[in-house]
Amino acid sequence: MTAPDFARLGAGNIVAFIADIFQRRGADSYLGEPVTMSQHMLQAALLAENARAGDALVAAALLHDIGHYTSEFPPDAQDQGIDNRHNEAGAAVLAPYFPKSVTDCVRHHVPAKRYLCATDPDYFARLSDASVLTLKLQGGPMDAAEVAAFRRLPNLDDIVRVRVWDDEAKVAGRTTSPFEHYQPLLQRLVDAHRQDRAVV
Ligand SMILES: [Fe+2]
Repeated sequence: MTAPDFARLGAGNIVAFIADIFQRRGADSYLGEPVTMSQHMLQAALLAENARAGDALVAAALLHDIGHYTSEFPPDAQDQGIDNRHNEAGAAVLAPYFPKSVTDCVRHHVPAKRYLCATDPDYFARLSDASVLTLKLQGGPMDAAEVAAFRRLPNLDDIVRVRVWDDEAKVAGRTTSPFEHYQPLLQRLVDAHRQDRAVV
């Protein structure tokens, strides 16, 4: 089999491109957690599927941490996200191919932790040690004005659901489906998004 040509990313090869990242970089450790990056993202997708979430939410759960790999994307894509944190960077590299229902959940999954710490007394107690540590770096719990602004996001419920799956997707040894299982779902979203953009 010849290696895929990713010189030009588009709707026809973005899913294969992401699959290639999972394959080459998936074994990277997920800092301070007992799972690898790919195990973490595949577990998040499995939790979304088990909750009977729609395609966009399953994709968001699967791809929420893709921003850790923006250096894999071509330079023009990196420019859009390189100065941002991994959530903003991930949303930026996905935005040309996936709908806002996916990229909003990716973009807000870090602030969602700060939101839940401020609004759900039980939430903080459920965070892993590594996640408590990064909370500090991420700005700590939101203040009242930040909470009010976050509540105005139109897809707040979906954003919070992805965040909770993110937190739960850290179980050593949990069996998941391989990335390939999600490729048709991802391609459906990419194709629908391309058509929507063409119509506009
Ligand atoms: Fe994550």
